[in-house]
Amino acid sequence: MAAVTPPVAGRGSVTEVALVGAGRMGSMHLRAIAGSASIRVTDVVEPYPPRREQCAAAGLRTHATIEDLLANGTPDGVIVCAPTDQHASVVRHLLASGVPVLCEKPAGLSSREVAETGRGAGPGAVLQVAYWRRFVPALVALRDRIAAGEFGKVLHLVCAQWDGAPPPPAFRAGSGGIFVDMGVHEFDELRWLTGCEIEGVLAVTTPAVDPAARPDADVGQVLLSLTDSTTAVVSLGRHHPVGDLVSVEVFGTVGHQRLVVLDPAGGEEPMLDALRRQAESFAELLATGVRAGAGIDDAVAAMRTAESAANSAHHPH
Ligand SMILES: NC(=O)c1ccc[n+]([C@@H]2O[C@H](COP(=O)([O-])OP(=O)(O)OC[C@H]3O[C@@H](n4cnc5c(N)ncnc54)[C@H](O)[C@@H]3O)[C@@H](O)[C@H]2O)c1
Repeated sequence: MAAVTPPVAGRGSVTEVALVGAGRMGSMHLRAIAGSASIRVTDVVEPYPPRREQCAAAGLRTHATIEDLLANGTPDGVIVCAPTDQHASVVRHLLASGVPVLCEKPAGLSSREVAETGRGAGPGAVLQVAYWRRFVPALVALRDRIAAGEFGKVLHLVCAQWDGAPPPPAFRAGSGGIFVDMGVHEFDELRWLTGCEIEGVLAVTTPAVDPAARPDADVGQVLLSLTDSTTAVVSLGRHHPVGDLVSVEVFGTVGHQRLVVLDPAGGEEPMLDALRRQAESFAELLATGVRAGAGIDDAVAAMRTAESAANSAHHPH
């Protein structure tokens, strides 16, 4: 964990945050954080009136724009769940207004955009990027076991993310494509689990079966080489009809482990648990300056790998 300064004081013992964007992911954050004793959502910024009304009916203060939110006071922090193509402008606006931000992945549509957002943040700004796998207790334990040498030399990892069904074509159009929208989770997870950097990337894709969703792909398969001569495979897919699947497998010289993080039979509870822990880590960052989650450099690294994968798939070897 790295310390960041200066810490930002929360209000009393409960950190009060606003949510920007109350769509699919924003709603998941609301459900997850409802179970927390250390952080709560008080306000929602959402341009779509029916969603604003739903949030108001749930007892939240609602605003159509960030200007409206800030005109009514400054929250301790903001969780950004706006569409990916708006991350950069929304995050820059909030940071420039002195508001700490926990931004959903990928925090921009290109590594350059993410890096510029980070550079523009300034020394006192607080920005965490929401890579929730870092808050799954079983993955934290796996990372500790790798670091303790329990697998010997880690030779190979297999990371899979297969979603139950694709998101709507309109979402996919502004999502950056399968490697940015989905793959960044696995690319961040590989670096975080192993402590290695990703060096080589080779990818193939299967075009979306729905013509309205193209040029996005339904399947992306990525071969990676990491520093320390470790290799990895990342398997991404948008059609897993029984439900969302996320898994990780580690092959070492003296050990092996396969871990199912999201199991269709088990539902979304592990993700909700990790989202709550992640929000609490944001509250901890604001209160103490201690960072447990991903920062801007991690987000840039994940995006660079996503871009390499997309370039490689467009120019097959
Ligand atoms: N971490 C994960 O596992 C995960 C999963 C799904 C989505 N996401 C991320 O969450 C983000 C949102 O995805 P989603 O699936 O919820 O999309 P969505 O389209 O369902 O929801 C986005 C919401 O933001 C609102 N919005 C649009 N512009 C806005 C603005 N300028 N300010 C405030 N709100 C605005 C929209 O009206 C909508 O309600 C994306 O960046 C996506 O990458 C992360």
